[in-house]
Amino acid sequence: MPILELKNVSFGYTQNLVLENVNLKVEPGQFIGIIGVNGSGKSTLLKLILGILKPTKGEIIKDKKLNIGYVNQTTSTEEGSFPATVFEVVALGLKKRPFSYINFKDKKRVLKTLELFSLTMLKNRSFSALSGGQAQKVKIAKVLLSNPDIIVFDEPTTGIDAESEEILIEMIKHLHAMKKTIIFVSHDKETLLACDKIYKISDYTLEESHV
Ligand SMILES: Nc1ncnc2c1ncn2[C@@H]1O[C@H](COP(=O)(O)OP(=O)(O)OP(=O)(O)O)[C@@H](O)[C@H]1O
Ligand SMILES: [Mg+2]
Repeated sequence: MPILELKNVSFGYTQNLVLENVNLKVEPGQFIGIIGVNGSGKSTLLKLILGILKPTKGEIIKDKKLNIGYVNQTTSTEEGSFPATVFEVVALGLKKRPFSYINFKDKKRVLKTLELFSLTMLKNRSFSALSGGQAQKVKIAKVLLSNPDIIVFDEPTTGIDAESEEILIEMIKHLHAMKKTIIFVSHDKETLLACDKIYKISDYTLEESHV
């Protein structure tokens, strides 16, 4: 049984059509790569999967309780005035109720995740004062901490230095080995080689492809 399925999904922003009759089955534990030229509709497809956008036609079948983690595609100034420290942003991944107490065990989990991304030194820094690559790592750390059923990455390595990119890619491979379901938009050849399936968006539709 697929964990998520798109059946004849079409979508357009007001007038302009982006996707037409897209079909996709995502099996549990699958690592899916999505490619396509700029503006082909990769981010739009992810937003449909996440439920941020609704299909104009067709349907998306998923369990209501399905927890989908999302690392969006950044432009460096996007979250410029977010008034929280790195620790606080990553701790949001714990999905605690607002203002509830973070106990010792939670704190240790946050610190361990920060450590994993070499973010320990930055933990008391304001999130808005980070570089684009640092901010991206913080966002990924937060999503991983929330332990989602499916993790959706939209070009997560953009703006990240080579060393952090290596860590991230190793982490994604590790998540895959742990049977996490991953949907990954990227043009990074090395990561795409690790995917179970690659799909390409072209001419409004999705077809199976290769690196
Ligand atoms: N909010 C929006 N309103 C109107 N049109 C949009 C909106 N977002 C995206 N589009 C258009 O939809 C098309 C697909 O955009 P999308 O962002 O999904 O492409 P992409 O494949 O992710 O591109 P990139 O590689 O640059 O990230 C583009 O033509 C884009 O201009
Ligand atoms: Mg995009």
